[in-house]
Amino acid sequence: MRPEQHDREYVLGHSGQEQERLRLQASIVGGWTEGFFKAAGIDRGMSVLDLGCGLGDVSLLASEMVGPSGSVTGIDKDPAVIEKARERCHAQGHSAPIDLIHGDLMDYYSEHRHFDAVVGRYILLYQPDPVAAIQHVLKSVRSGGIVCFHEMDFANPIRGFPSDTLFAKSFVLVGETFARAGLRGDFGLHLTTTFMQAGLPWPQLKAEVPIGGEAGSYLYIWLIETLRSLLPRMESLGVTTAAELDLDTLAERIEAESTTFHAELFGPLQVGAWSRKVA
Ligand SMILES: C[S@@+](CC[C@H](N)C(=O)[O-])C[C@H]1O[C@@H](n2cnc3c(N)ncnc32)[C@H](O)[C@@H]1O
Repeated sequence: MRPEQHDREYVLGHSGQEQERLRLQASIVGGWTEGFFKAAGIDRGMSVLDLGCGLGDVSLLASEMVGPSGSVTGIDKDPAVIEKARERCHAQGHSAPIDLIHGDLMDYYSEHRHFDAVVGRYILLYQPDPVAAIQHVLKSVRSGGIVCFHEMDFANPIRGFPSDTLFAKSFVLVGETFARAGLRGDFGLHLTTTFMQAGLPWPQLKAEVPIGGEAGSYLYIWLIETLRSLLPRMESLGVTTAAELDLDTLAERIEAESTTFHAELFGPLQVGAWSRKVA
């Protein structure tokens, strides 16, 4: 395995803590994903393929949107998260049937199945060749079917007030770690070119911006848990150390500073892009 491939796969790790972080993140960004899917035309009765489904949050969301007459298939290459996703879907119940498959999206193809829509959240940035990934999954989408992806840009932090906060200094480390690991933390800015290169029509786009700074803002815990997942890679890539970060007190310190200065802090830009497969 090439070092760059290793980093691509393991930058956030596979720990139980990372699974918790994914669930926290899903609860923060889920409304934005739903907005992108609605605007893209995801509707009752549709069959949806969810790429890189992780713990199943996007599959569960799509299941509610398509209802009992629709269906959802989720695919993920991490066997541990697929197992957890199956347990969650079973325990919590869902509207449309959800089929969760363990495997790499590049190996997935069903001759007899053509989905009404293919979706994915925070998945394209991890692909060695995102254009080839879209072209491959398009084979499993019907003509006129929807293609909708939700990505973000954490490589270009949005300037807040004050501009040089502890939040801002800590947030930069996320982009730095992904960059050193050979991953594009700004993938949300590359959706149009990726769609066009994959042969899709120019996509429609929508962006959302997380903002906060008040006591108890979700921005603090989201950032701290992301840094916690990244810590082993940050240390091995020489970005920072556990001692420098002091994660156990970081949220408290960020919050104290933000509330003192009545700060406005921005999280990563969220970008939705959607288009339809041409005949
Ligand atoms: C950041 S997580 C996002 C999970 C989920 N989409 C969400 O937003 O909650 C990315 C997921 O994509 C999966 N993944 C990455 N590349 C993949 C591939 N080529 N085929 C299948 N799954 C992939 C990883 O295993 C991981 O679970």
